[in-house]
Amino acid sequence: MKLIRLFIFLLAFPMFAQQGGMWIPSLLEGMNETEMQNLGMKMSAADIYSVNQSSLKDAVPHFNGGCTSEVISPKGLLLTNHHCGYGQIQSHSTVENDYLADGFWAMNLNEELANPGMTVTFIVEITDVTEKVLEGTKNASSEEERQQMIDRNKQNVVEKSPKEKWQTNRVSTFYDGNQFMLFKVETYKDIRLVGAPPSSVGKYGSDTDNWMWPRHTGDFSLFRIYADKNNRPAEYSEENVPYTPKHYLPVSLDGVAEDDFTLVFGFPGTTDEYLPAVAVEQLVETINPARIGIREVALKEQDVFMRKDQQIKIQYASKYSRIANYYKKWIGESQGLIKTDAVDIKKAQEKELMQRIKAKDLEKQYGSILSDFDTAYAEFKDYDLAYNLFSEAFIRNVELLRNGFQLYQLEQVLESRGEQSFTDRKANLLEDYKSSYKDYSAKVDEKVFEKVIEFYADNLPKQFLTDGLQQKNKAQLTQEIYGKSALTDYASVEKLMDGDAEEVIKRLNEDPGYAFVKKQAQKFYSDALPTYRSKRMEIDALQKEYMTAIVELSPKDARIFPNANGTLRVTYGQVKGYSPKDAVYYEPVTYLEGVMEKYVEGDYEFDLPQKLIDLYEQKDYGKYDENGKMPVNFIGTNHTTGGNSGSPVIDAHGNLIGLNFDRVWEGTMSDIYYDPVISRNIMVDARYILFIIDKYAGASHLIEEMKLVHPKQSKDAMKKKRRSKKRK
Ligand code: ARG
Ligand code: ASP
Repeated sequence: MKLIRLFIFLLAFPMFAQQGGMWIPSLLEGMNETEMQNLGMKMSAADIYSVNQSSLKDAVPHFNGGCTSEVISPKGLLLTNHHCGYGQIQSHSTVENDYLADGFWAMNLNEELANPGMTVTFIVEITDVTEKVLEGTKNASSEEERQQMIDRNKQNVVEKSPKEKWQTNRVSTFYDGNQFMLFKVETYKDIRLVGAPPSSVGKYGSDTDNWMWPRHTGDFSLFRIYADKNNRPAEYSEENVPYTPKHYLPVSLDGVAEDDFTLVFGFPGTTDEYLPAVAVEQLVETINPARIGIREVALKEQDVFMRKDQQIKIQYASKYSRIANYYKKWIGESQGLIKTDAVDIKKAQEKELMQRIKAKDLEKQYGSILSDFDTAYAEFKDYDLAYNLFSEAFIRNVELLRNGFQLYQLEQVLESRGEQSFTDRKANLLEDYKSSYKDYSAKVDEKVFEKVIEFYADNLPKQFLTDGLQQKNKAQLTQEIYGKSALTDYASVEKLMDGDAEEVIKRLNEDPGYAFVKKQAQKFYSDALPTYRSKRMEIDALQKEYMTAIVELSPKDARIFPNANGTLRVTYGQVKGYSPKDAVYYEPVTYLEGVMEKYVEGDYEFDLPQKLIDLYEQKDYGKYDENGKMPVNFIGTNHTTGGNSGSPVIDAHGNLIGLNFDRVWEGTMSDIYYDPVISRNIMVDARYILFIIDKYAGASHLIEEMKLVHPKQSKDAMKKKRRSKKRK
């Protein structure tokens, strides 16, 4: 009986059931390579990452520090998300030429638009330098000295490791300080905008559909890398020419089916997969509710105005989206952590680790780590809450408070670095304010202020509250500030900041808005921040030790991957649907039919361009359809996070089949606990991208640059050939 059950268990959870993980591309040989091949991959680890021959990594640069992108033609054509290129598309837009609303397509190289300051970075080589970085640190007499030695060693490695003069060396930290990798990189600086669909395609569904499945968004845009005559990085110049890549991705026309192998290659930003249970508990019970709560009141106030005023809607659309993005993510994350019993699972893992520690007689070294975590997190809690509430209120959600806080920092710059730094910073700030106040509405911000400050005062642990905030009627406080402060429009801010440092500081301190921010900031800086920082350091040191124990004591074949840290990673999985709740099952692929089902004429989230509706009605899909239907998005079990946006989705043979841009809401706890049952990443089907470029935009010259392939058809053809050979 037992044997049968075991057998059934093995069938349901085959050895190679995909379990998540973001892997270092230079270390795929062995377990990962085997697992990928078992999932259907036909490539070798060296096809993905190699230093001696061109490999997939040569087609995948970091996009402007935040997103990922991929080269898809021999002429340096670069694909990324619409939401990653958003700032550039916006910066070229005017009222007459609104590329966000209408899209943009360069019909030849001359029409491509330069983006000063923008970069993409290729990884040339990754080398493990752990030994060099940790050299001598065993003899350090304190944690501080150890850290200094590490920093010095890192600096040495960066300076002494060979590189060409147009390349850069940098060292990144993995496993909380247990492993160090040297990255030799090349940064290109002349990146031009080539194409973008209208937002009604590229951002279809906007905030309502964000983090959601079923999804129907064509979230892509196109750029081109330019290089000097030697194909090396160069500042923008008319002389520059399209970059010739070491490798570019062929684009598959064959699409995906459930269970197909997928590989996502990109630059995930941050994850916290090895938090102890006590930290996860605190996140779910205290930190997430605070950040969700404060954003909820801010969003609610903005929404009231956006609904009744078209101008405010335009001014606040992008700010609203930014606040709503993580607001929604944290809700999904908390629900997912609860639903998957992440805390209990972590507790069980901790128990197991403690048993191993005992068994290996390492209690002296690691025996107290969990109780140390308990103490540290209990002491950290109020400070962490204060830190999060302060940054939400004074940096992220209320514009007057953010501007006031920047001015407070300006006053500090004067004190710490003198008049010249003050003057430079002042000029930069004014420049920023000049553009940000264009989209500022004092009456919206006033309402947001009142509600956010109310929330802040009600939820901040009492020891961090200023007397004023404890007692004051918030409506009255708000009126006083917005009635008298100069921070409510650009002209008066400009006047406020006119003159030398002494004059400016005097005037600032007489402004009721500035005075309010300064009082709250001083309280935060004196009573909360120092302890927040020292506890944070204590917890980081514990986390490093905990990570060391996990790495040392786990079975040799355990799947321990380093947290995301903005470096290039490989994650893989399969195309798969999921069941988010009882009786509901989501298919893994959406089609243009679904885009039409959501269509609401004139709506700011679900409107569609007439041309797309026409193409749909005529079923004019060119060669990009799948049995007469136009695929739009699909999901899979790839373990991704913020920063993976724009990552290529690659098939078993190394061809592009899609473009990563999001995750499903129920699975967003994957940053802390990845669950293969409900964690899914969301991708645009490559064929939808080709269809929009070709049939919608008529930019067929771009299609001609690419290499379109039929990996599945040729496989079928090969099988047939083999079969007919056998018959002969
Ligand atoms: N949720 C995705 C990510 O975290 C997409 C965000 C952009 N889209 C939006 N509707 N705000 O970046
Ligand atoms: N949308 C995210 C990004 O911009 C991706 C994610 O969080 O899944 O990187």
